[in-house]
Amino acid sequence: MVHVVIGGQWGDEGKGKLVDIFSQKADVIVRFHGGNNAGHTVINDYGKFPLHLVPAGIFNPTATVVIGNGTVLDLEVLLTEIAMLKKVVPDISKRLLISPRCHVIMPYHKILDRLYEAAKGKAKTGTTGRGIGPVHADKVSYQGIRLIDFFDPQILNEKLEIALKIKNPILRAFGEQPLQRAEILKTKLQEFAQVRKFVKETYPVILDALASQKYILCEGAHGFFLDTDWGTYPFVTASNCLPATVTAGVGIPAQKIKRVTAIVKAYTTRVGSGPFPTELLNATGDKLRAAGHEFGTTTGRPRRCGWLDLELIRFMAQVTGATDIAITKLDVLDTFAEIKICTGYTYRNKSVHYWNGDASWLLKVKPVYKTLPGWQMPLTDIRSLSKLPPAAQNYVAFIEKTVGLPVKMISVGPERSQTITH
Ligand code: GDP
Ligand code: IMO
Ligand code: MG
Repeated sequence: MVHVVIGGQWGDEGKGKLVDIFSQKADVIVRFHGGNNAGHTVINDYGKFPLHLVPAGIFNPTATVVIGNGTVLDLEVLLTEIAMLKKVVPDISKRLLISPRCHVIMPYHKILDRLYEAAKGKAKTGTTGRGIGPVHADKVSYQGIRLIDFFDPQILNEKLEIALKIKNPILRAFGEQPLQRAEILKTKLQEFAQVRKFVKETYPVILDALASQKYILCEGAHGFFLDTDWGTYPFVTASNCLPATVTAGVGIPAQKIKRVTAIVKAYTTRVGSGPFPTELLNATGDKLRAAGHEFGTTTGRPRRCGWLDLELIRFMAQVTGATDIAITKLDVLDTFAEIKICTGYTYRNKSVHYWNGDASWLLKVKPVYKTLPGWQMPLTDIRSLSKLPPAAQNYVAFIEKTVGLPVKMISVGPERSQTITH
Protein backbone atom coordinates (compact mmCIF):
# COMPACT_ATOMS: atom_id res chain seq x y z
CA MET A 1 0.00 0.00 0.00
CA VAL A 2 1.14 3.52 -0.75
CA HIS A 3 0.24 5.99 2.00
CA VAL A 4 1.02 9.68 1.58
CA VAL A 5 1.11 12.05 4.54
CA ILE A 6 0.79 15.73 3.70
CA GLY A 7 0.61 18.99 5.60
CA GLY A 8 -2.90 20.42 5.27
CA GLN A 9 -2.09 24.05 6.11
CA TRP A 10 1.08 26.21 6.00
CA GLY A 11 3.47 23.62 7.42
CA ASP A 12 4.43 22.55 10.95
CA GLU A 13 1.20 20.62 11.45
CA GLY A 14 2.99 17.79 13.25
CA LYS A 15 3.93 15.65 10.23
CA GLY A 16 7.11 14.42 11.96
CA LYS A 17 5.18 13.05 14.92
CA LEU A 18 2.57 11.28 12.79
CA VAL A 19 5.09 9.90 10.27
CA ASP A 20 7.09 8.46 13.19
CA ILE A 21 3.93 6.68 14.35
CA PHE A 22 2.90 5.38 10.90
CA SER A 23 6.53 4.35 10.24
CA GLN A 24 6.40 1.70 12.92
CA LYS A 25 4.42 -0.44 10.48
CA ALA A 26 5.95 0.77 7.21
CA ASP A 27 8.55 -1.05 5.08
CA VAL A 28 9.84 1.92 3.10
CA ILE A 29 9.58 5.58 4.10
CA VAL A 30 10.37 8.28 1.54
CA ARG A 31 10.86 12.02 1.32
CA PHE A 32 9.81 13.11 -2.16
CA HIS A 33 9.99 16.92 -2.34
CA GLY A 34 11.27 20.03 -0.62
CA GLY A 35 14.56 20.17 1.21
CA ASN A 36 16.11 21.21 4.46
CA ASN A 37 13.65 24.07 4.75
CA ALA A 38 11.51 21.37 6.39
CA GLY A 39 11.79 20.79 10.12
CA HIS A 40 9.97 17.68 11.33
CA THR A 41 10.06 17.06 15.08
CA VAL A 42 10.06 13.47 16.27
CA ILE A 43 9.87 12.63 19.97
CA ASN A 44 10.13 8.92 20.72
CA ASP A 45 12.01 6.39 22.90
CA TYR A 46 15.31 7.53 21.34
CA GLY A 47 14.90 11.21 22.23
CA LYS A 48 13.83 14.41 20.48
CA PHE A 49 14.96 15.04 16.91
CA PRO A 50 14.37 17.99 14.56
CA LEU A 51 14.72 16.27 11.17
CA HIS A 52 15.30 18.33 8.04
CA LEU A 53 16.14 15.73 5.40
CA VAL A 54 16.22 12.16 6.70
CA PRO A 55 12.71 10.65 6.72
CA ALA A 56 11.17 10.30 10.18
CA GLY A 57 10.89 6.54 9.54
CA ILE A 58 14.60 6.06 10.27
CA PHE A 59 13.67 4.96 13.80
CA ASN A 60 11.96 1.78 12.58
CA PRO A 61 14.90 -0.67 12.66
CA THR A 62 13.50 -2.83 9.86
CA ALA A 63 12.56 -0.06 7.43
CA THR A 64 14.46 1.32 4.46
CA VAL A 65 14.36 5.10 4.21
CA VAL A 66 14.73 6.96 0.94
CA ILE A 67 15.52 10.57 0.08
CA GLY A 68 13.92 10.65 -3.34
CA ASN A 69 15.05 12.54 -6.44
CA GLY A 70 12.46 15.32 -5.88
CA THR A 71 14.27 16.40 -2.72
CA VAL A 72 16.94 19.11 -2.78
CA LEU A 73 19.72 18.95 -0.24
CA ASP A 74 22.44 20.86 1.49
CA LEU A 75 25.28 18.35 2.04
CA GLU A 76 26.46 20.13 5.18
CA VAL A 77 23.01 19.90 6.78
CA LEU A 78 22.69 16.28 5.68
CA LEU A 79 26.02 15.37 7.30
CA THR A 80 25.13 17.06 10.59
CA GLU A 81 21.82 15.20 10.62
CA ILE A 82 23.40 11.83 9.85
CA ALA A 83 26.01 12.40 12.60
CA MET A 84 23.22 13.17 15.10
CA LEU A 85 21.22 10.10 14.07
CA LYS A 86 24.23 7.73 14.06
CA LYS A 87 24.31 7.91 17.85
CA VAL A 88 20.91 6.23 18.10
CA VAL A 89 20.67 4.55 14.69
CA PRO A 90 24.09 2.89 14.28
CA ASP A 91 23.02 0.99 11.14
CA ILE A 92 21.91 4.18 9.34
CA SER A 93 24.29 3.55 6.41
CA LYS A 94 22.51 0.24 5.72
CA ARG A 95 19.02 1.74 5.75
CA LEU A 96 19.29 5.24 4.28
CA LEU A 97 19.39 5.62 0.52
CA ILE A 98 19.71 8.93 -1.34
CA SER A 99 18.86 9.37 -5.00
CA PRO A 100 21.78 10.48 -7.22
CA ARG A 101 19.20 12.64 -9.05
CA CYS A 102 18.76 14.96 -6.05
CA HIS A 103 19.75 18.55 -6.77
CA VAL A 104 22.37 20.00 -4.44
CA ILE A 105 22.16 23.38 -2.73
CA MET A 106 25.38 25.28 -3.46
CA PRO A 107 26.77 28.31 -1.56
CA TYR A 108 25.49 30.73 -4.22
CA HIS A 109 21.90 29.47 -3.77
CA LYS A 110 21.90 30.57 -0.14
CA ILE A 111 23.47 33.94 -0.98
CA LEU A 112 20.93 34.55 -3.78
CA ASP A 113 18.06 33.59 -1.46
CA ARG A 114 19.23 36.32 0.94
CA LEU A 115 19.80 38.90 -1.82
CA TYR A 116 16.42 38.32 -3.50
CA GLU A 117 14.65 38.65 -0.16
CA ALA A 118 16.52 41.88 0.66
CA ALA A 119 15.69 43.29 -2.79
CA LYS A 120 11.99 42.60 -2.26
CA GLY A 121 12.06 44.54 1.02
CA LYS A 122 8.60 44.63 2.60
CA ALA A 123 7.29 42.31 -0.13
CA LYS A 124 9.71 39.52 0.88
CA THR A 125 8.46 35.94 1.09
CA GLY A 126 10.09 35.34 4.46
CA THR A 127 11.99 32.27 3.29
CA THR A 128 13.97 29.99 5.55
CA GLY A 129 17.13 31.31 3.86
CA ARG A 130 18.23 27.80 2.90
CA GLY A 131 18.58 28.50 -0.84
CA ILE A 132 15.41 26.59 -1.71
CA GLY A 133 13.97 28.96 -4.35
CA PRO A 134 17.30 29.45 -6.18
CA VAL A 135 18.16 25.71 -6.26
CA HIS A 136 14.75 24.89 -7.75
CA ALA A 137 15.14 27.78 -10.22
CA ASP A 138 18.40 26.23 -11.42
CA LYS A 139 16.74 22.81 -11.63
CA VAL A 140 14.04 24.01 -14.02
CA SER A 141 16.38 26.23 -16.02
CA TYR A 142 18.73 23.29 -16.67
CA GLN A 143 21.59 24.67 -14.61
CA GLY A 144 21.30 22.43 -11.58
CA ILE A 145 24.07 20.36 -10.06
CA ARG A 146 22.99 16.90 -8.96
CA LEU A 147 24.55 14.34 -6.66
CA ILE A 148 25.35 12.19 -9.68
CA ASP A 149 27.69 14.94 -10.94
CA PHE A 150 29.86 14.54 -7.85
CA PHE A 151 30.97 11.03 -8.87
CA ASP A 152 33.12 12.60 -11.61
CA PRO A 153 35.00 15.66 -10.27
CA GLN A 154 35.76 16.78 -13.82
CA ILE A 155 32.07 16.95 -14.70
CA LEU A 156 31.36 18.72 -11.41
CA ASN A 157 34.14 21.19 -12.15
CA GLU A 158 32.72 21.94 -15.60
CA LYS A 159 29.19 22.44 -14.25
CA LEU A 160 30.45 24.66 -11.48
CA GLU A 161 32.39 26.75 -13.98
CA ILE A 162 29.20 27.37 -15.98
CA ALA A 163 27.23 28.07 -12.80
CA LEU A 164 29.72 30.69 -11.64
CA LYS A 165 29.83 32.24 -15.11
CA ILE A 166 26.14 32.98 -14.59
CA LYS A 167 26.06 33.60 -10.84
CA ASN A 168 29.15 35.75 -10.27
CA PRO A 169 27.95 38.66 -12.45
CA ILE A 170 24.69 38.63 -10.49
CA LEU A 171 26.59 38.64 -7.20
CA ARG A 172 28.77 41.51 -8.40
CA ALA A 173 25.69 43.47 -9.49
CA PHE A 174 24.39 43.15 -5.93
CA GLY A 175 27.74 44.38 -4.59
CA GLU A 176 28.83 40.94 -3.35
CA GLN A 177 32.22 39.29 -3.73
CA PRO A 178 32.37 36.73 -6.57
CA LEU A 179 32.76 33.09 -5.52
CA GLN A 180 35.87 31.01 -6.16
CA ARG A 181 35.36 27.74 -8.01
CA ALA A 182 38.34 25.90 -6.47
CA GLU A 183 37.18 26.68 -2.95
CA ILE A 184 33.62 25.47 -3.52
CA LEU A 185 34.86 22.38 -5.32
CA LYS A 186 37.15 21.43 -2.45
CA THR A 187 34.53 21.86 0.29
CA LYS A 188 31.73 20.17 -1.60
CA LEU A 189 33.86 17.20 -2.67
CA GLN A 190 34.97 16.72 0.94
CA GLU A 191 31.34 16.68 2.05
CA PHE A 192 30.35 14.36 -0.76
CA ALA A 193 33.09 11.89 0.21
CA GLN A 194 31.23 11.34 3.50
CA VAL A 195 27.80 11.10 1.86
CA ARG A 196 28.83 8.94 -1.10
CA LYS A 197 28.02 5.59 0.52
CA PHE A 198 24.35 6.57 0.86
CA VAL A 199 23.96 7.65 -2.77
CA LYS A 200 22.52 4.94 -4.99
CA GLU A 201 19.64 4.82 -7.47
CA THR A 202 16.51 4.50 -5.33
CA TYR A 203 14.09 3.40 -8.05
CA PRO A 204 14.75 -0.38 -7.66
CA VAL A 205 13.72 -0.13 -3.98
CA ILE A 206 10.44 1.51 -4.99
CA LEU A 207 9.85 -0.94 -7.81
CA ASP A 208 10.45 -3.91 -5.54
CA ALA A 209 8.30 -2.50 -2.75
CA LEU A 210 5.43 -1.87 -5.18
CA ALA A 211 5.74 -5.34 -6.72
CA SER A 212 5.72 -7.08 -3.34
CA GLN A 213 2.85 -4.96 -1.97
CA LYS A 214 4.94 -3.47 0.79
CA TYR A 215 3.79 -0.54 2.90
CA ILE A 216 5.38 2.57 1.38
CA LEU A 217 4.94 5.67 3.50
CA CYS A 218 5.58 8.99 1.76
CA GLU A 219 6.47 11.87 4.09
CA GLY A 220 5.23 15.15 2.67
CA ALA A 221 6.96 18.35 3.73
CA HIS A 222 5.73 21.94 4.20
CA GLY A 223 1.98 22.27 3.60
CA PHE A 224 -0.68 22.47 0.91
CA PHE A 225 -0.91 26.29 1.07
CA LEU A 226 2.86 26.54 0.51
CA ASP A 227 2.45 24.59 -2.76
CA THR A 228 3.96 26.55 -5.68
CA ASP A 229 0.77 26.30 -7.76
CA TRP A 230 -2.12 26.08 -5.31
CA GLY A 231 -0.63 27.96 -2.38
CA THR A 232 -0.66 31.68 -1.65
CA TYR A 233 1.86 32.53 -4.40
CA PRO A 234 4.38 34.23 -4.14
CA PHE A 235 4.30 33.43 -0.42
CA VAL A 236 4.93 29.74 -1.02
CA THR A 237 7.81 27.33 -1.23
CA ALA A 238 9.48 26.16 -4.44
CA SER A 239 8.05 22.65 -4.62
CA ASN A 240 4.63 21.14 -5.19
CA CYS A 241 3.29 19.85 -1.88
CA LEU A 242 0.61 17.57 -3.35
CA PRO A 243 0.25 13.79 -2.86
CA ALA A 244 0.73 13.17 -6.59
CA THR A 245 4.16 14.83 -6.31
CA VAL A 246 5.33 11.30 -5.35
CA THR A 247 5.33 10.48 -9.07
CA ALA A 248 7.83 13.19 -9.94
CA GLY A 249 9.67 12.97 -6.65
CA VAL A 250 10.30 9.27 -6.22
CA GLY A 251 8.72 7.39 -9.14
CA ILE A 252 5.46 6.09 -7.65
CA PRO A 253 2.52 6.14 -10.11
CA ALA A 254 -0.24 8.38 -8.73
CA GLN A 255 -2.90 5.67 -9.12
CA LYS A 256 -0.98 3.44 -6.68
CA ILE A 257 -1.75 5.85 -3.83
CA LYS A 258 -4.28 4.16 -1.54
CA ARG A 259 -4.36 6.51 1.41
CA VAL A 260 -3.70 10.23 1.80
CA THR A 261 -3.66 11.52 5.36
CA ALA A 262 -3.83 15.29 5.66
CA ILE A 263 -2.34 16.53 8.91
CA VAL A 264 -4.36 19.44 10.25
CA LYS A 265 -3.42 21.44 13.32
CA ALA A 266 -6.43 22.22 15.54
CA TYR A 267 -5.75 25.92 14.86
CA THR A 268 -3.64 27.61 12.15
CA THR A 269 -0.03 28.78 12.04
CA ARG A 270 2.20 30.23 9.37
CA VAL A 271 5.88 31.24 9.27
CA GLY A 272 7.02 34.00 6.92
CA SER A 273 4.91 36.49 4.99
CA GLY A 274 1.64 36.16 3.12
CA PRO A 275 -2.12 36.34 3.65
CA PHE A 276 -3.62 34.58 6.66
CA PRO A 277 -7.35 35.38 6.95
CA THR A 278 -7.85 33.94 10.47
CA GLU A 279 -4.66 35.37 11.96
CA LEU A 280 -5.03 36.69 15.51
CA LEU A 281 -2.83 39.73 16.05
CA ASN A 282 -3.89 40.00 19.68
CA ALA A 283 -3.63 38.35 23.09
CA THR A 284 -5.52 35.26 21.84
CA GLY A 285 -2.89 34.74 19.14
CA ASP A 286 -0.15 35.20 21.73
CA LYS A 287 -1.87 32.64 23.94
CA LEU A 288 -1.96 30.09 21.10
CA ARG A 289 1.75 30.73 20.39
CA ALA A 290 2.72 30.25 24.02
CA ALA A 291 0.53 27.18 24.61
CA GLY A 292 1.59 25.53 21.33
CA HIS A 293 5.28 26.53 21.60
CA GLU A 294 4.91 27.94 18.12
CA PHE A 295 8.49 28.75 17.18
CA GLY A 296 10.00 27.42 13.94
CA THR A 297 11.82 24.05 14.04
CA THR A 298 14.20 25.19 11.28
CA THR A 299 14.68 28.93 11.91
CA GLY A 300 13.34 29.48 15.45
CA ARG A 301 11.10 32.30 14.16
CA PRO A 302 7.84 32.90 16.07
CA ARG A 303 4.96 31.40 14.10
CA ARG A 304 1.94 33.55 13.30
CA CYS A 305 -1.17 32.04 14.94
CA GLY A 306 -4.92 32.08 14.31
CA TRP A 307 -8.12 30.05 14.42
CA LEU A 308 -8.72 26.92 12.36
CA ASP A 309 -9.78 27.79 8.81
CA LEU A 310 -12.11 25.21 7.28
CA GLU A 311 -12.48 27.15 4.02
CA LEU A 312 -8.82 26.25 3.48
CA ILE A 313 -9.11 22.67 4.73
CA ARG A 314 -12.11 21.93 2.52
CA PHE A 315 -10.26 23.18 -0.57
CA MET A 316 -7.10 21.28 0.40
CA ALA A 317 -9.18 18.10 0.81
CA GLN A 318 -10.79 18.54 -2.61
CA VAL A 319 -7.57 19.11 -4.54
CA THR A 320 -5.46 16.49 -2.77
CA GLY A 321 -8.13 13.78 -2.66
CA ALA A 322 -7.23 13.25 1.00
CA THR A 323 -8.86 10.10 2.39
CA ASP A 324 -8.62 11.05 6.06
CA ILE A 325 -7.50 13.73 8.47
CA ALA A 326 -5.25 13.61 11.51
CA ILE A 327 -5.91 16.48 13.92
CA THR A 328 -2.88 17.57 15.93
CA LYS A 329 -2.31 19.81 18.93
CA LEU A 330 -5.92 19.59 20.13
CA ASP A 331 -4.50 19.89 23.68
CA VAL A 332 -3.27 23.42 22.89
CA LEU A 333 -6.93 24.58 22.97
CA ASP A 334 -7.48 23.11 26.48
CA THR A 335 -7.81 26.42 28.32
CA PHE A 336 -10.00 28.36 25.88
CA ALA A 337 -13.58 29.04 27.04
CA GLU A 338 -14.70 29.56 23.45
CA ILE A 339 -13.09 28.41 20.23
CA LYS A 340 -13.78 29.92 16.84
CA ILE A 341 -13.68 28.06 13.54
CA CYS A 342 -13.78 29.77 10.17
CA THR A 343 -16.36 28.16 7.90
CA GLY A 344 -16.05 30.41 4.85
CA TYR A 345 -15.11 33.87 3.58
CA THR A 346 -16.98 36.93 2.40
CA TYR A 347 -15.71 39.68 0.12
CA ARG A 348 -17.81 42.84 -0.23
CA ASN A 349 -20.59 41.02 1.61
CA LYS A 350 -20.69 38.15 -0.86
CA SER A 351 -19.69 34.59 -0.08
CA VAL A 352 -16.40 33.69 -1.80
CA HIS A 353 -13.89 30.84 -1.92
CA TYR A 354 -10.13 30.67 -1.45
CA TRP A 355 -9.62 30.00 -5.15
CA ASN A 356 -11.52 33.10 -6.33
CA GLY A 357 -8.46 35.33 -6.09
CA ASP A 358 -4.76 35.73 -5.47
CA ALA A 359 -2.68 36.44 -2.40
CA SER A 360 -3.32 40.21 -2.35
CA TRP A 361 -7.08 39.64 -2.73
CA LEU A 362 -6.99 37.08 0.08
CA LEU A 363 -5.77 39.86 2.40
CA LYS A 364 -9.18 41.51 1.97
CA VAL A 365 -11.57 38.60 2.56
CA LYS A 366 -13.45 38.41 5.86
CA PRO A 367 -13.65 35.08 7.66
CA VAL A 368 -17.09 33.86 8.76
CA TYR A 369 -16.84 32.24 12.19
CA LYS A 370 -18.76 29.64 14.11
CA THR A 371 -18.11 29.79 17.85
CA LEU A 372 -17.94 26.50 19.69
CA PRO A 373 -17.65 25.98 23.47
CA GLY A 374 -14.22 25.00 24.82
CA TRP A 375 -13.72 21.95 27.06
CA GLN A 376 -11.44 23.64 29.62
CA MET A 377 -9.75 20.49 30.86
CA PRO A 378 -6.45 18.81 29.93
CA LEU A 379 -6.62 16.27 27.08
CA THR A 380 -3.02 15.00 27.13
CA ASP A 381 -3.78 11.82 29.10
CA ILE A 382 -6.84 10.80 27.10
CA ARG A 383 -6.38 7.86 24.71
CA SER A 384 -9.84 7.21 23.25
CA LEU A 385 -12.36 9.29 21.37
CA SER A 386 -15.21 8.36 23.70
CA LYS A 387 -13.24 9.62 26.74
CA LEU A 388 -12.76 13.08 25.21
CA PRO A 389 -15.01 15.70 26.85
CA PRO A 390 -18.20 16.31 24.80
CA ALA A 391 -17.04 19.77 23.69
CA ALA A 392 -13.82 18.29 22.23
CA GLN A 393 -15.79 15.50 20.51
CA ASN A 394 -18.09 18.17 19.15
CA TYR A 395 -15.10 20.17 17.80
CA VAL A 396 -13.77 17.08 15.98
CA ALA A 397 -17.24 16.16 14.67
CA PHE A 398 -17.72 19.70 13.35
CA ILE A 399 -14.49 19.42 11.36
CA GLU A 400 -15.48 16.01 9.96
CA LYS A 401 -18.90 17.26 8.92
CA THR A 402 -17.74 20.52 7.36
CA VAL A 403 -14.83 18.99 5.46
CA GLY A 404 -16.55 15.71 4.64
CA LEU A 405 -13.64 13.49 5.70
CA PRO A 406 -13.13 11.15 8.66
CA VAL A 407 -10.72 12.13 11.43
CA LYS A 408 -8.69 8.96 11.99
CA MET A 409 -6.12 10.25 14.48
CA ILE A 410 -6.15 12.91 17.15
CA SER A 411 -2.90 14.08 18.68
CA VAL A 412 -3.07 15.42 22.23
CA GLY A 413 0.64 15.97 22.95
CA PRO A 414 4.04 15.89 21.23
CA GLU A 415 4.95 12.34 22.27
CA ARG A 416 4.23 9.13 20.39
CA SER A 417 1.90 7.81 23.07
CA GLN A 418 -0.17 11.00 23.26
CA THR A 419 -2.35 9.93 20.36
CA ILE A 420 -5.94 8.76 19.86
CA THR A 421 -6.47 6.39 16.93
CA HIS A 422 -9.85 5.18 15.78
P1 GDP B 1 6.08 19.33 11.10
O1 GDP B 1 6.98 20.25 10.35
O2 GDP B 1 4.74 19.21 10.48
O3 GDP B 1 6.71 17.98 11.35
O4 GDP B 1 5.86 20.00 12.53
P2 GDP B 1 6.98 20.64 13.49
O5 GDP B 1 7.76 19.55 14.09
O6 GDP B 1 7.74 21.71 12.78
O7 GDP B 1 6.08 21.38 14.54
C1 GDP B 1 5.15 20.70 15.31
C2 GDP B 1 5.48 20.92 16.79
O8 GDP B 1 4.37 20.53 17.59
C3 GDP B 1 6.65 20.07 17.27
O9 GDP B 1 7.34 20.77 18.27
C4 GDP B 1 5.97 18.83 17.86
O10 GDP B 1 6.76 18.20 18.86
C5 GDP B 1 4.72 19.45 18.45
N1 GDP B 1 3.53 18.58 18.47
C6 GDP B 1 3.13 17.67 17.56
N2 GDP B 1 1.91 17.16 17.88
C7 GDP B 1 1.55 17.78 19.02
C8 GDP B 1 0.37 17.72 19.84
O11 GDP B 1 -0.58 17.01 19.56
N3 GDP B 1 0.34 18.54 20.93
C9 GDP B 1 1.36 19.36 21.26
N4 GDP B 1 1.22 20.12 22.35
N5 GDP B 1 2.48 19.46 20.51
C10 GDP B 1 2.56 18.68 19.41
P1 IMO C 1 7.71 21.83 7.42
O1 IMO C 1 8.01 20.64 6.54
C1 IMO C 1 6.66 26.09 7.74
C2 IMO C 1 7.79 28.62 4.34
C3 IMO C 1 8.80 29.67 4.77
C4 IMO C 1 8.44 30.78 3.80
C5 IMO C 1 8.12 30.03 2.52
C6 IMO C 1 9.26 29.97 1.52
O2 IMO C 1 8.54 21.88 8.66
O3 IMO C 1 6.26 21.96 7.68
P2 IMO C 1 11.52 28.59 1.52
O4 IMO C 1 12.69 28.59 2.46
O5 IMO C 1 10.88 27.27 1.35
O6 IMO C 1 11.87 29.22 0.21
O7 IMO C 1 10.45 29.58 2.19
O8 IMO C 1 7.76 28.72 2.92
N1 IMO C 1 8.15 27.22 4.67
C7 IMO C 1 7.71 26.59 5.76
N2 IMO C 1 6.94 27.01 6.78
N3 IMO C 1 7.08 24.81 7.71
C8 IMO C 1 7.84 24.36 6.66
O9 IMO C 1 8.21 23.06 6.53
C9 IMO C 1 8.21 25.28 5.64
N4 IMO C 1 8.93 25.16 4.52
C10 IMO C 1 8.89 26.36 3.92
O10 IMO C 1 8.60 30.02 6.11
O11 IMO C 1 7.27 31.43 4.24
MG1 MG D 1 8.16 21.94 10.70
